[in-house]
Amino acid sequence: MRRSDIPARWPVVIVLLHWTMTAALLAMILGGFAMSRVAEAAAEAGDFSLTVLGIPVFEAYQLHKSIGVLLFGLVLIRLLFRVALPEPDLPEHTKTPERFAARAAHVGLYMLMFGLPISGWLLVASSPLGIPTQVFGLFTFPHPIGPDAGRDALFHTAHWAGAWALCGLASVHTAAALKHHVINRDSVLEAMLPVRRSKDERSDIHAE
Ligand code: HEM
Ligand code: HEM
Repeated sequence: MRRSDIPARWPVVIVLLHWTMTAALLAMILGGFAMSRVAEAAAEAGDFSLTVLGIPVFEAYQLHKSIGVLLFGLVLIRLLFRVALPEPDLPEHTKTPERFAARAAHVGLYMLMFGLPISGWLLVASSPLGIPTQVFGLFTFPHPIGPDAGRDALFHTAHWAGAWALCGLASVHTAAALKHHVINRDSVLEAMLPVRRSKDERSDIHAE
């Protein structure tokens, strides 16, 4: 692609998916840890009327699973657009190691956005409790494998570790984006925002 063909900003569909999914993933992480703790307390006390932010624990699990299935669909769509559409380049002065780190972080974030719903799905399918996955009360999402306590524990650990890995990598990614904005004062963050500053205010322009 010629440099003049490189867009200055991320395609609008990627921007929309990036920020919607960031908000949903944050809610899933906080909600996931909260519902897990409440479920533990409910099992210890034998009181299943306990709630997570006012939602009964059973419904909280179904909501978590439903949003997780939705996020899996969204990340598939996002990846297709990402592959099909041209993306803005990093500022010209960006060194090769930084370019590599940014690319590696994006690949890692995609692996986690796929890995979390998949491990969650395999965990509920393997659970000896055998509770079906009702997506927003509309339909039952099939479970590909049957109950097995060993596998349940394995996928639970994978799901838990994936959630922590996402917290870590997303924090580094966010810090890098803010560093570009505040310290380098370039347009890397702006290219992912739904609003734009005037050209005069920007210290660099990707390729316009
Ligand atoms: C991107 C999507 C997802 C994120 C970010 C996410 C995040 C989390 C987090 C942070 C926890 C708490 C882990 C712990 O404390 O051990 C959790 C628990 C759980 N997740 Fe997910 N999850 C996602 C998708 C799914 C999906 C698609 C399903 C099932 C279809 C699912 C099923 C569960 C279940 C059943 C638990 C509770 C495990 C337990 O308490 O034993 N998750 N999730
Ligand atoms: C407030 C938090 C966040 C900020 C400020 C932020 C900022 C940005 C910026 C500026 C870019 C463009 C980078 C470039 O040009 O190379 C970007 C891209 C990207 N971000 Fe974030 N981000 C945040 C949260 C997240 C989260 C939570 C995820 C995923 C779990 C994520 C995944 C990605 C991915 C995969 C890309 C590459 C473009 C794409 O395929 O969508 N970001 N982000």
